[in-house]
Amino acid sequence: MPSADIDFGYSDADFRRVRQIAMAEAGISLPETKKNLVYSRLSRRIRETGYPSFNSYLDFVVTKAGEKERDKLICAITTNVTSFFREGHHFEHLHDVVLPQIARNLKAGGMGRLWSGACSTGQEAWSMAMTTMDVIPDAPSLDMKILGTDINRDVVDVGRRGVYLSQDLNAIPSTMKKKWVVEDKDEPGYSMITGEIRELPVFNILNLNSNWPIRKKFDAIFCRNVVIYFSAETREALWKRLADQLVPGGYLYVGHSERVERQDECNLTAESSTIYRKRG
Ligand SMILES: C[S@@+](CC[C@H](N)C(=O)[O-])C[C@H]1O[C@@H](n2cnc3c(N)ncnc32)[C@H](O)[C@@H]1O
Repeated sequence: MPSADIDFGYSDADFRRVRQIAMAEAGISLPETKKNLVYSRLSRRIRETGYPSFNSYLDFVVTKAGEKERDKLICAITTNVTSFFREGHHFEHLHDVVLPQIARNLKAGGMGRLWSGACSTGQEAWSMAMTTMDVIPDAPSLDMKILGTDINRDVVDVGRRGVYLSQDLNAIPSTMKKKWVVEDKDEPGYSMITGEIRELPVFNILNLNSNWPIRKKFDAIFCRNVVIYFSAETREALWKRLADQLVPGGYLYVGHSERVERQDECNLTAESSTIYRKRG
C-alpha cells in the first residue's frame, strides 16, 4: 500500500489481532489477501471513534466497554450486499416444492417455519414472505413464520423496517410488487413493504457461530453468501448445525459459490449444487 494512503500506522501484528478478534467473535477467517481491505474498512472506524492508532483502537475493542465497537468491527469487515429474489431459482424451488408441502401441513393444523440465516438488510426474508403469500394467501392467519437473522444490528433494523430505495424494489416480480409495495410518502425515493405480509417475518440479531435460542425446526433454511467468510472447519460445523435444525425432508439453500462437502455427516442429500434436502 503506498504510504500516502496510510493515515494510521498498521503493522502485521495489528492485522493478526484483527484476525484473532474476527475469528473469536464471528468465526470469520481473514486471509493475508484481506490485509489492505481490513485497513481501509477499519481506518474509517478509527477516525470516527477518535483513536490515534490501530493499536490503541484494538486495545479498546477487546475490553468489556468495547463490546459495541467489537460488533462494529465485525460489521465493517463483512459485506451486506443482497437483493430481492437474488438467485431466483431458489425462490422457484421454494414456491413449487417446499411451500405446497407447508400448505398441506398448515391445513392439517401444523405449522410452517422458514429461516433466512444471514439476512443482511432483509430482502431475502421479504422475498421468502412474498413467495409464501403467493402459495398460501392466508398464511398470516395460520401458524406460519419467517425468521430473519444477522449478526449486524444495523442491517437487522433495516429489514424489520421494510423500507428500501424504490429502485431496489424493481427486482420484485410485478404482481407481487403491486400487492405488497407502496411509496413511502415521508421519504421521497423510498418505498415500503405493506399489508398483512408484514405479520410473517420476525427479525432478530443472531451470530451463526454462537448458541441459537431457537427451539422450533424449520421446513427450509436459506444460509447464503455468508460461509464464504468462515474457515472450512467453522463452515462444516455450521452446515451440521443447520441440518440438525431442519425437519426431516426440510431444505437447506446455500449461496452460488458455496457447497456442503460432507453431506453424509450432515444427513443431507444434494438436489442441485446449492439445494440440499435433509434425509428421513
Ligand atoms: C453478503 S450478505 C448475504 C445476504 C443474503 N443472505 C444474500 O445472500 O443475499 C452476508 C451477511 O452475513 C452476515 N454475517 C457475517 N458473519 C455472520 C455471522 N457469524 N452470523 C450471522 N451473520 C453473519 C453479514 O452481516 C452480512 O449481512
